[in-house]
Amino acid sequence: ALSSARSDDGYRLWLRYDRIENETYRTQAAPALGRIVLATPSGAESPTVAAARDELTTALGNLLGATPVITLEKLPAASSAVARSSDAFSVSSPSSFTPHSSPLTISASSDLGILYGTFALLRHLQTGQPLENLSLTSYPKIQHRLLNHWDDLNGHVERGYAGSSLWEWFYLPEIRNPRYHDYARACASLGLNGTVLTNVNANAQILTAPYLAKVAALAGEFRPYGIRVYLTARFSAPIEIGGLKTADPLDPAVAAWWKTKVAEIYRAIPDFGGFLVKANSEGQPGPQDYKRTHADGANLLADAVAPHGGIIMWRAFVYSPDNNDDRVKQAVTEFAPLDGKFRDNVIVQIKNGPLDFMPREPFSPLFGAMPKTRLAAELQITQEYLGQSTQLAFLAPMWREFLDADTFANGPGTTIASLIDGSTKRQQPSVIAGVANTGTDRNWTGHLLAQANWYAFGRLTWDHSLTSEQIADEWTKMTFGHDASVVSTITKLLLGSRETVVNYSMPLGLTHIMAEGHHYGPGPWVDKLGRADWTSVYYHRAAATGLGFNRTATGSNALAQYSPAIAQRYGSLTDCPENLLLWFHHVAWDHRLRSGRTLWDELCLRYQQGVDEVRAMRRDWDSLKGRIDDERFTHIQQRLTRQELDAIEWRDACLLYFQTFSKRPFPAGIEPPA
Ligand code: GCU
Repeated sequence: ALSSARSDDGYRLWLRYDRIENETYRTQAAPALGRIVLATPSGAESPTVAAARDELTTALGNLLGATPVITLEKLPAASSAVARSSDAFSVSSPSSFTPHSSPLTISASSDLGILYGTFALLRHLQTGQPLENLSLTSYPKIQHRLLNHWDDLNGHVERGYAGSSLWEWFYLPEIRNPRYHDYARACASLGLNGTVLTNVNANAQILTAPYLAKVAALAGEFRPYGIRVYLTARFSAPIEIGGLKTADPLDPAVAAWWKTKVAEIYRAIPDFGGFLVKANSEGQPGPQDYKRTHADGANLLADAVAPHGGIIMWRAFVYSPDNNDDRVKQAVTEFAPLDGKFRDNVIVQIKNGPLDFMPREPFSPLFGAMPKTRLAAELQITQEYLGQSTQLAFLAPMWREFLDADTFANGPGTTIASLIDGSTKRQQPSVIAGVANTGTDRNWTGHLLAQANWYAFGRLTWDHSLTSEQIADEWTKMTFGHDASVVSTITKLLLGSRETVVNYSMPLGLTHIMAEGHHYGPGPWVDKLGRADWTSVYYHRAAATGLGFNRTATGSNALAQYSPAIAQRYGSLTDCPENLLLWFHHVAWDHRLRSGRTLWDELCLRYQQGVDEVRAMRRDWDSLKGRIDDERFTHIQQRLTRQELDAIEWRDACLLYFQTFSKRPFPAGIEPPA
C-alpha cells in the first residue's frame, strides 16, 4: 500500500511519510501528537473515522516513529463553528505540551470532516509547521470536487499518458486491486469527493447490470474516503441497451426507461452521485438528434436522478459541423438562450476556455452569460496540449489565472471563482471538475512532477484562494523533503514551467497549432482535416498581412460575447494583454509591441526564450544531483532532456513555417533553426 512502499518510484505520491529528518522538530512533534482526540457529531466509530485513525497511526508511526493514542469524543452540541458547514473541520492544540495539557483535537461537522482534518494535520507536520497553539479551521468552498476520468471500458484512457485505466473491469467486482484504496486516500487527502469513472465519449454498457455490480464494488472501496462515484451517460443508451426505438427526451417511454435505470443504479450504489454527459458534441448522440434542446436532454436525466439526490453535469463543450461561425463562439450561441431552462440539479459544465484546454486561453464567455444557471468549471489535469507526460508544466498558475479572471458579469470583481463556488444559494449544487492525469504507471501520472498537478487541482477545489506558490511549496516539501536548495529549486521549476511551455509552443495568444490527432508537438501547417475547425490554419490565420485571428467587430466579433469592459479592452490592439494578442487580433508582421519590437521579431524571441528557459530548467535540475534519491533524479533529468529537444522542435517548426508568410529574417539572438 501507499504508506508501506519504501522505494522512490513515486508510488507514495505526497503521502510518503518518510521519517522527519529535522531532529529538533521531530522530538517536539512526538509529544504534541502523542494523544489525539477526534470529536465528531456522534462520537461513534465509522469506516471513515477508522480510515482517519489508520492514516494517523501509519503516518505518525513513519514520520515520528511514535504511535499516537487516539480517542473519540462527541462534539459538544452547537458549540463549535465547524458545526455550521458540511465537512468543515478544525484542528486545535494547546500552547505547550506537558503531560497535563489538553490533547490535540480534530473536530468536525461530519466523519468525513475528521478525515479531512487528519490530512490537514499531517500536511502541517509534513511541511514542518509549528504544532503549538493550532487553530486551523477549514471548509470546502465548492461542494462537489470531482475528477473526470476519460477511461474506456477496454482499459484505454483517452488523452491519458500514464498507462492504462486504473479500473480493472474484467476483474471486478470480486477482485479489487489494493490500488483503489490508495487512489481514494490520495483524493481524500486533497478534499476531492467525487470521481466520474468513465469517458465522456461514453459507452452505454457501463449502465448494464454486470457493470453496475463492478461500479458498486469501486464505490464500496471509495466510500470510507468520502469519494462518491458518478458515471457518464450515453444519450442513446435507451436504444443501445434498453431496446427502445428512440432516445427522444420528450418521449414518455424514454423518460420511464431512465427512471427505471436510475432506480436500479441507486439500488446498487445508494450514494451514487449522478451523470456527466457529453451530448451533440464531436459526434456524440444527444437531444438535438430529435430536434430537442440541451435543456430538454439535461432535464430528462435530472428528473430521473432528482428523487435520489443525484446531479447532472451537462457539458457545454459543443461546436457543430454545420455551424460555420467562429468555433469559440458556439457554446454561448447554443447555451445562453437556454439560461433559466435547466432544472435545479443540472450544472452546465464549461471548460475554462472557449476552445479546448490550450496552453493559454481567455476564460470562456459562457461563465458570464448564464446568470440563471448553475455553472461548473472543467479543467484538464492531463496535459493533452502541454507536453503530455513528457514535459513539465505545473498548471496551478494557469488555473489561478482562470479562477481570478474578472468576468464583470455582475460588475467589477465578478471572478470566475465567485461564479462557480457555492457561496450563493443559486450556485448550489456547486461543482468543479478536472480531467484526471492518473493511470497504471507506478508513479500514477507518468511524469513524476505531474503529480503536482493532481495535487494542485485538488487543493484548489477545496480552497480556490490558495496561491500557486503555496501549493508548490507544500507539494515539494511533502514529496521531496525540506532541504532548502531542493525546495527552492523545485518550486522555481514548477512555477515557471507553464509559461515556458507557452513560450516555446504557442506564445502571444497563438493557439491550436499542434500536430493533428495525438496533439503532441508542432503542426502549424495542418490544413486538411475532417473539419476546418480542427486544422491549425483555421486558428493562426498566417498570411502576408500578418498573424492571428481577428475576433473584434471587424472579424468574428467573438469579443461581443464578453462584458463591455472586457470587449473594449481586449478589442483594442494597444490595450489587449499581449499574452492573448493573436487570439483576438490579426496583427501585421511589422506592428510594434510594447517591447518596441515588431510582431515578427517578438514572436521569434519568445520561441527562443522558451528554449532557453528549458535549458535553464535542466541546469537547475542537475544542481540537485545527490540531494535527492537517484531514482527520481534520473526520471526527471531524462524528461527534461527530452523537453529541450521538443522545445527546439516547436521553435524551429513554427518559425520556419511562419517565416514563409512573414518573409522576414530572424532577428539577432535566434539560433538558426535546424
Ligand atoms: C478534446 C479531446 C477529446 C475529448 C474532447 C472533450 O477535444 O481531444 O479527446 O473527447 O476534448 O472534451 O470532449
